[in-house]
Amino acid sequence: MTEFLTLGIETSCDETSAAVIDGEGRVRSNVIASQAAAHALYGGVVPEVAARAHLENLPATFEKALADAGILLSDVNLVAATAGPGLIGALLVGLSAGKALAFARGVPLYPVNHLEGHLFSAYLHADGSPAREVVYPFHGLVVSGGHAELVRVESDRVVPLARTRDDAPGEAFDKVARRAGLPYPGGPVIDRIAARGDGSRVKLPVGRVSDGSRDFSFSGLKTAMLREFARLGVDGEPLDPDALPQELVDLFASFQRAVVSALLGRVEDVHAAEGIRRLALSGGVAANTELRAALAGWGRERGVSVLLPERSLTTDNAAMIAWAGLLRFRRDGPPDVAAGNARSRWPLGVA
Ligand code: KG4
Ligand code: ZN
Repeated sequence: MTEFLTLGIETSCDETSAAVIDGEGRVRSNVIASQAAAHALYGGVVPEVAARAHLENLPATFEKALADAGILLSDVNLVAATAGPGLIGALLVGLSAGKALAFARGVPLYPVNHLEGHLFSAYLHADGSPAREVVYPFHGLVVSGGHAELVRVESDRVVPLARTRDDAPGEAFDKVARRAGLPYPGGPVIDRIAARGDGSRVKLPVGRVSDGSRDFSFSGLKTAMLREFARLGVDGEPLDPDALPQELVDLFASFQRAVVSALLGRVEDVHAAEGIRRLALSGGVAANTELRAALAGWGRERGVSVLLPERSLTTDNAAMIAWAGLLRFRRDGPPDVAAGNARSRWPLGVA
């Protein structure tokens, strides 16, 4: 087989995933085993539970990724595994497996920054067609359960421009949903509820950090929501998302509106300061209906090309890790073996 095949492995949080992409970024397979059910009981991800579940799920996930792609391990030319940021025990499972596979096959192992994986995910197609060409520079907005990062991506570096100081937007969705007695994860549930609500009904504070930086803060918004819950007598008893009083539906719609306008506000600030030609959205919260529509509309108004990731590629998956690993490998060549350690913290822009 002459094509260049990359095997991706992702185990940073609560999704065990393995994928195969080819040299043109065609997704040949992308298998995701979600642990959401195992964590739903606790209303959030439990690190030890995650690490154990990765250990159990990875062998079958990896076998299926090879089978779906119709290849053997001996066809793989590069292994790319998430090395951070994430839960250290969870990361170690995938990264160690990646190292072992690469060592056994005598091919390079690329340790990938999970956020960089998200950053480039908007360039991939889930249907097996080649990836879009990556044109530098572009701006990236990564919004997930653990992160909110606005960056400028140049061909040889990533420049951070704004990040969250406290809760990430996905975390805010999840925490607010949990306090209201809605199922985990909260993002998709609130997205669905908000579709029937009026987001202009309740005025909620949109976080601005007082030191004049462009960083995000979602903790004030979360506190305001808790006050509203107390006022409405919402005490955390399980609620049926499809049978909520309209006042509560409007409150969730207003919460979503506040998150979306905070994100859009920062994008607008950066556009005013340095001009954005291309904006790639990514991360779990990139699945949000209102955020997608708002950014697409903003792009049309400003003449900015906005790349929205396909929904199936917004949450954690190994195809995006394989793709980021392949792009790096092409740019930098085989990685330094010492760089292959798991790191729970690994900010974008740091080598
Ligand atoms: O990127 P991801 O899979 O994991 C992290 O790296 O954090 O993101 C998961 C997050 C969760 O907080 C989830 O509630 C949120 O993405 N999410 C959404 C939607 N779908 C997933 N948030 C808002 N609207 C959605 N439709
Ligand atoms: Zn993620």
